Formats: sequence, C-alpha cells, structure tokens
Amino acid sequence: MGKLLEGKVAIVTGAGRGLGRWEALLLAREGAKVVVNDLGGGFDGSGKATGPADEVIAEINGAGGEAIANYESVADFQGAKRIIDCAIEKFGKLNILVNNAGILRDRMMFNMSEEEWDAVIGVHLKGTFNCSRHACAYWREEHKAGRNHEGKVINTASDAGLLGNPGQGNYGAAKAGIAALSIILAKEMERYGVTCNCVVPVARTRLTTDATPSMAAMMGTAKPGEFDIFDPEHLSPLVVYLASDNAKEISGETFRVMGNKVWFLRGWYNVDVATKKEKARWNPEELDSVIKEMVKKAPPKKDLAQVLLEA
Ligand code: NAI
Repeated sequence: MGKLLEGKVAIVTGAGRGLGRWEALLLAREGAKVVVNDLGGGFDGSGKATGPADEVIAEINGAGGEAIANYESVADFQGAKRIIDCAIEKFGKLNILVNNAGILRDRMMFNMSEEEWDAVIGVHLKGTFNCSRHACAYWREEHKAGRNHEGKVINTASDAGLLGNPGQGNYGAAKAGIAALSIILAKEMERYGVTCNCVVPVARTRLTTDATPSMAAMMGTAKPGEFDIFDPEHLSPLVVYLASDNAKEISGETFRVMGNKVWFLRGWYNVDVATKKEKARWNPEELDSVIKEMVKKAPPKKDLAQVLLEA
C-alpha cells in the first residue's frame, strides 16, 4: 500500500511536544516532508527553546523521513510568513498547514489581565490567522499561475470554546473563533482548491495535566496494557486523513477525537422559533414570556465534563 501523503509538504505549528509532535511524526511516516515549528516555551507561553523541535526532526529524519525545524512564534505576523516561506524554500512548495500551537493562561473573567487575554488570543486565534493568511495568499497566487497544490488547512479548536469552560474565557473565545474562522476560510478558499477543517482533541498533554488540575484528575494516568483513551497519539490519524487527497470533498467541518471515538460536530443551530401573530416588531415586555417559554422547553445545557463522561 502506498503512503497517503507521498510528495506532500506539510507544516505543523507547535509540533515540538504533545499533539503536534504526534501529528508531525505520522505526517512524515505517511510520506510528507515536514516543517516542525515550535517556539519551545512553557505551557503559559513564557520562554523559548530550540530543543523540542530539534528532537522531533531528529526522530523523523532518523526514521528515514524528511523534516526541518523552525522556531518562529505563530503569534508574530512576519514570523508566520517565515514559517510558510521555510516550507517553500526548503521543500519547494506547501500542501498542508496544521495550526496546532497553543498555550494556556486560565483565569476567571474578573481576574484576567489584559496581558493574559492578549497572549492567549495572540497564539491561538491570531496565530491561526497569521499562518493561514500567508498560506492562503501563496495558494491563491499559485492557483492563478496554474499550479493547484490542493491546499489543506487543519485548525485546532477545543471543547473549552465549543461548549464553554469557566476559567478559560481567553482560550475558549479563541478556540470558538478558530472554529468560525475555519468555516469562513473553507468558503473563501474553495475556488482555489483549498479545504479547511477543524479538529477537537481530548488528550493527556501538559496543557491538560500541568495547566488544568481538574482535567488532570479526570484523565488520570495511563494503565499498562489497557487502551488509553487519552493518549495524544489518537488524534494524528484524523489529521493525516484530512490532510490527504481522500478528504478533498470534506471542508468547513469540525471533528472531535477521544480514544477510539470520532465525533462529527456542527454548532449554533436553531433550538426554537417564536413568530409574532401580526407582521410587526416584538416589544421588550411581550418578549419576557416568549423567551422564558422557549428556554424552559429547550434541552438542558451540558458542561464539558458531562459531555466527556457520557461519551
Ligand atoms: P502542548 O503544550 O503539549 O503543545 C503545544 C506546543 O505549542 C508546545 O510545544 C509549545 O512550545 C508550542 N507553542 C506555544 N506557543 C507557540 C508559538 N507562539 N509559536 C509556536 N509554537 C508555540 O499542548 P497540546 O495539548 O499538545 O496542545 C496542542 C493544541 O491542541 C493546542 O492548540 C491546544 O489548545 C489544543 N487542544 C488540546 C487539548 C488536549 O486535550 N490536550 C484539548 C483541546 C485543544
């Protein structure tokens, strides 16, 4: 059987650790040449190191694959351009962009500093925009010149945004924004042969164990010999599939992976509708009973832990 990504060039941001590392390893194993981007910071975005990206390229190159490290921050607009240019200069083109880099600075709304808000929005939402913006400009120009690279953008969202998790206003807003941006990017880039989809992981990494003690408690530790549903390696087959030409008709969609499950998610749906008898505008007083009645009839809201425990 041939490799699924033979001849493709991929970038994975934040690929020095956690989920991104597994994504880069499987993309390479399936034949893609990979730019392993990682700033090498702490889980809160502080500090820098080249070690994490270097270790992953050593692993890929040692196994007979082709990879190059890049240490730019995705939060820097010009740095993001250099990440895209790195693939094109080193490997001649770009086919796949996996926006994965992430940090956490959890805080309740009333305690969150401007800096904590900006840092998290900067890496996740702006970082996803930055890399996608430069990749899409490249694919559009190439398409106009008669070269279709079948571009694939895979973004990383989170239940913290799609379901709403207290204490993660900055992170959740960024992740819900990324899910919305993915739908828009898919529509804008369809004519240039580019797809864009979103993945939602649930995995044991330092973001869930070091940064969020409640998630760490829920995920526990891997038990030898048992199927570990929180193993971060479980996400990468979905990413490879979405990056492959087999998935060229799948675009603007969101999928969650936990263990051996893959969910297909779509958001913001009409729960109910009330129509005024006369063709006239509602007034605030009459909306009181109408809105309360609709909310009362709606199915109960579920929090993040409930959704995962029911899975
Ligand atoms: P991780 O902390 O193990 O890996 C994130 C990597 O991103 C780190 O190696 C870090 O150095 C890198 N990074 C951070 N800021 C960067 C920047 N400005 N530029 C380049 N690289 C940067 O965390 P994990 O869990 O692997 O997270 C990967 C993605 O998955 C993140 O977007 C995270 O929000 C998302 N996610 C993870 C979940 C989980 O259960 N672990 C759940 C939902 C979403």
